[in-house]
Formats: sequence, C-alpha cells, structure tokens
Amino acid sequence: METTLVLLKPSCVNRGLIGQIINRFERRGLQIVGMKMMQLDDAILRDHYSHLVDKPFFPSLAASMKATPVVAMALQGVEAVTVVRGMTGYTNGRKADPGTIRGDYSMSNQQNIVHASDSIDNAAVELARFFKPGEILNYKHALAEYMYGSDEI
Ligand code: TYD
Repeated sequence: METTLVLLKPSCVNRGLIGQIINRFERRGLQIVGMKMMQLDDAILRDHYSHLVDKPFFPSLAASMKATPVVAMALQGVEAVTVVRGMTGYTNGRKADPGTIRGDYSMSNQQNIVHASDSIDNAAVELARFFKPGEILNYKHALAEYMYGSDEI
C-alpha cells in the first residue's frame, strides 16, 4: 500500500468542485486516510514548491495557492502515487487528456485544480509537511476484498 498527498487548490475550492473531485478518488477505490482544510502561507509554499521558487511565475503561483484555504488529503491504495498522478493529468489543463481531473476541469497551467505527489519519496515528505502525527488514520476498508484481488494486497 502507498499513501499519497493531494491538495484541492483554491481553483477547486472557489469553483465549488471539492465534492466532485473527492468523488473521483472515492469511486476509483482510493481510501481517504486523512483530510482537512488549511490556509497555506509563504513558508509552507516555499518548502512545497522549492523546485520552483526561482521561477518568474512563483509569486503568482504562491498568490493563487493562498487565495482561499485548500483541502489536504492523504489517499491510500496499491500504487496510489502513480494512480493519483494518472488521474491528475498533465500540469497544463489545456494539454491534459480528457478524462483526467485537469483535462476535465482546467484551462490553465496554474489554476489546475489539484496537486498530487509525483513520487513515493516526495509523497512521504509532503504528507509530513501537511499532516501532523496522528492526523493520518489507517483503518481497514470494509470492502477491501472487492477492491483488489487477494494476491494484490
Ligand atoms: P510542477 O511541479 O511542475 O507540476 P505538477 O503540479 O503537475 O506536479 O508545478 C507545480 C505547480 O506550479 C503547477 O501545478 C502549477 C504551477 N506552474 C505555473 O504556475 N506555471 C508553470 O509554467 C508551471 C510549469 C507550473
């Protein structure tokens, strides 16, 4: 099992899409093991986007991520990191495949609805950044045996 971080960005919150996006993850069979709203600030954004702080678009990205609270989610499943990245789609919504979240809901490179961890290592770092100890709650999914074959879990 893997656990990955998803952020429902202000573009999702403001457009009233929180429920629709959460529904996509639930119906795929990903288990929500952590979820909360939080207001991001510059310190956490500089950490989270440390690979982008020197880019000319960083101030605008940071402003977009502070516009409203975000919803932080910890999603668990077999190969969850790859599965969730696949559901998220290409960064630029205009280039993202239809059927992905960005390809279905975004026309933008920046206002692209969701963040999803891009590797197992980054997922661990990002989950620790957004969730305190005890906020990720592991529990048995009542229908686990109908979500996976017995040799997959
Ligand atoms: P990045 O980590 O490259 O992509 P992803 O979110 O798909 O992992 O970029 C992080 C965020 O930075 C991206 O979701 C939106 C923003 N961004 C811009 O605003 N402009 C850009 O040109 C790029 C590449 C990203």
